[in-house]
Amino acid sequence: MVKAEDLIAAIREEVGDGQALVALSGGVDSFVAATLAGKALGGRLHPVLVDHGFLREGEREEVEAAAKAVGMDLLTVDASARFLEALKGVTDPEEKRRRIGHLFIQVFEETARELEAIHGPIGYLVQGTILPDVAESRPQGGGGPVKSHHNVGGLPEAMAFRLVEPLRQLDKPEVRELGKTLGVPETILTRQPFPGPGLAVRVVGEVTAERLAMVRRADAIVRREMEKAGWHQTLWQYFALLTGSPSVGYRDGRRVYGEVVAVRAVVAERAERAAPAPLPPEFLAVLAERILAEVPGLSRVVYDISPKPPATIEWE
Ligand code: XMP
Repeated sequence: MVKAEDLIAAIREEVGDGQALVALSGGVDSFVAATLAGKALGGRLHPVLVDHGFLREGEREEVEAAAKAVGMDLLTVDASARFLEALKGVTDPEEKRRRIGHLFIQVFEETARELEAIHGPIGYLVQGTILPDVAESRPQGGGGPVKSHHNVGGLPEAMAFRLVEPLRQLDKPEVRELGKTLGVPETILTRQPFPGPGLAVRVVGEVTAERLAMVRRADAIVRREMEKAGWHQTLWQYFALLTGSPSVGYRDGRRVYGEVVAVRAVVAERAERAAPAPLPPEFLAVLAERILAEVPGLSRVVYDISPKPPATIEWE
């Protein structure tokens, strides 16, 4: 087991008396990397959370609370209005990812410049790259990456930072173990995989403020019920998404069209293969009833029974 002190000492050596930035996404890797760097550099580390507005309910607050718990002085940049504007009229998922990726870099660069104006030059960027990321980003004979925005790729090329990647040699379980020894809160350590572009790719079709609010509410209901029933202990991922399909329902004595929401829940060991979770019909019925009662604009709930492959976990 790798020791936190060794990694902290290595960061100190690498950065010397320089300053570093780190972008937190809410994910365990970036958070553990930031915690190590914070211990190594103290006030010379500047952790930033760019809130693109596509986080799940309560997530920004969770990251902020976790940062506080490990003594990190986190700067949250609320750029949600800019991101929403950038996605206006966009329905193609890869175009969504591209625009989110570009704007993310832009906002991060602006923030870096503002921080430099206050603290002086910042030469280093801490990233939570882990062993599987290193393997995945190796070219694999043509084809290119399956998705254009797996994590926030492109960041290092766009800026003149030297990268600090303290977790490069570790796999996910080791990162969690390390996080535990550093006092990283459970909310971060047990967080499910979540796409960098967030809820923007869990809304099939155009992303609007209304549709984001709908998916966020439905997703919060799914998460709460799953946790209440204990499914969070065994499932790989579970969430709600908006399918973009209209369907008719019956409310207050008349036929009204609303949108179909889908529930996706899978068992998996890694993300390459996944099977639909064998959820009992009574439990699914609770999800459907709550979602339809509590989220206006939805008319129907379906449960995705597709295995991966050939289906993917996400719909976009
Ligand atoms: P798929 O949908 O390809 O997803 O079966 C495999 C795993 O990757 C996550 N995922 C993403 N993560 N940016 C990310 O950082 C993305 O654009 C993205 N798309 C999918 C997905 O949640 C699953 O865990």
